[in-house]
Amino acid sequence: MLGLKLLTDPRWANIAEGNLEEILTDHAWCEQKAASNAISLIMYNSEHEELVHELTAIAIEEMQHFQMVIDIIKARGYTLGKERKDDYVGQLMKFNKKDGSRNMAFIDRLLFAAMIEARSCERFRVLSQNIKDEELAKFYHDLMVSEANHYTTFLNFARQFSTDVDVDKRWKEWLDFEGKLIQSYGTKEAIHG
Ligand SMILES: [Fe+2]
Ligand SMILES: [Fe+2]
Repeated sequence: MLGLKLLTDPRWANIAEGNLEEILTDHAWCEQKAASNAISLIMYNSEHEELVHELTAIAIEEMQHFQMVIDIIKARGYTLGKERKDDYVGQLMKFNKKDGSRNMAFIDRLLFAAMIEARSCERFRVLSQNIKDEELAKFYHDLMVSEANHYTTFLNFARQFSTDVDVDKRWKEWLDFEGKLIQSYGTKEAIHG
């Protein structure tokens, strides 16, 4: 799925469903971080008009996802917990190239975003197909579609702006790195846990 090297064991969905308040809190903050990431890409790359417009739409959509999650949390009588650290994203961040050209760093930031969208999309699919809660199964199915579109947007921009970077080669490196990284996860009630 989306080139991912390793798919999530469906038993992870049972772990997630065992603590809905926790997975929803973690999920809400994932959406906020996705919005913040889009805003930061806009701030540092404002010379690209099309990118500014597309990422503004994504930032808004991610905050709408945040709103949907906090609405579910409220409706179910849960509490939104404090922001959760995302160890998986922290590990991925280290794979970003910082020693190349400015454009290389930009392309890698786009691939980093595409990578998180791809895995989030896959995790939403696992939830939508395996949890018993019908409302949340439908909710996660809809989000899966939305995050797949974001994945495509980020990857397409990386290709569009790749003047000095072989994007397909670099994307394969990202997929290989992520495929090994994700082997250590799949045991916690977190979207990337
Ligand atoms: Fe989202
Ligand atoms: Fe997204």
